[in-house]
Amino acid sequence: MNLSLTVKKIDSTLDSIIREDLKILKDIKRYTIQSGGKRIRPILHLVFCDILECNHKSKWEVASITELIHAASLLHDDVVDSADTRRGKKTVGAQFGNKTAILAGDFLLACGIERLNRVGNQSLMDCFTQVIRDLSVSELIQMQWEKNPKITMDIYEKIIYGKTASLFGAATESAAILAGQDSSTAKKFQEFGVLLGNIFQKRDDLLDYFTDSKTSGKDFLKDFHNQLYTYPILVLREFAGSKDRKDIPKIIESGNEAKILELMEKYNIHEIIQDEIQDGVYELMNFLTEYPDKKSKSLLMEQLENIR
Ligand code: FPP
Ligand code: MG
Repeated sequence: MNLSLTVKKIDSTLDSIIREDLKILKDIKRYTIQSGGKRIRPILHLVFCDILECNHKSKWEVASITELIHAASLLHDDVVDSADTRRGKKTVGAQFGNKTAILAGDFLLACGIERLNRVGNQSLMDCFTQVIRDLSVSELIQMQWEKNPKITMDIYEKIIYGKTASLFGAATESAAILAGQDSSTAKKFQEFGVLLGNIFQKRDDLLDYFTDSKTSGKDFLKDFHNQLYTYPILVLREFAGSKDRKDIPKIIESGNEAKILELMEKYNIHEIIQDEIQDGVYELMNFLTEYPDKKSKSLLMEQLENIR
């Protein structure tokens, strides 16, 4: 598996799936393909196809559909979050207006579903339509709870399942479906993707508090200043003594950077979350030992090492 050739082929498949006549849709298509995204979801699908020695003719299309659903959800998400930039570029909403961004997201989703339908596999259809439901439901739950100090860990886990882990799970499960594996193997594959997605999102939340903008590519403490109850805050709330715990909502409201970072340090929040991520990564690596060594598998192992 050659990474840059793989990305090229994913992009040309995306190009063939997004059929367009209107000038604005051509612009959106260019924007989607040249987004600077890392194509993590499609690559994950293709690695798992390779691990199962599956050479199904639709694997490139299914891989690209994972990216298309992701791209559509980001177009909508940037409207929900009133975001002007993504990955250092203007968002579609900032450039063409929010109405265009919403309709463009719908269009991308429709292109993906149309192509998936042509693969003619009901289990695949069920797998991805469930993801679209999960994305929408979790975004609604997030809107309701992300700034609410009463948010519980269960609610947080539900949100990140829907917004991130569900699509990762579909990327891996769909490889097992295409390979004609039985439902218990498909379930094990789905669980791998879900755990990876869960780790991925928690790591993203962690970066906000512990990594400078240059390294993370995101504004340092942006979630904190947006008053969001993301993972580091929820873990801090679990570990803090009762006096400090009571102060957390006030610190968030006041945007006192020094104070929140002091509490994070005092209760070792970075180490606690990093340990949890490491345990998850070991579990994922352990799962992979059941499968034969291949170049694609080493590539995935390398990526897992980097997360750790
Ligand atoms: C990014 O999270 C958000 C998502 C990946 C999901 C957004 C889902 C919707 C808006 C529902 C609509 C769904 C479809 C299928 C069209 P974030 O805001 O925490 O991350 P960010 O920093 O990358 O914006
Ligand atoms: Mg967002």
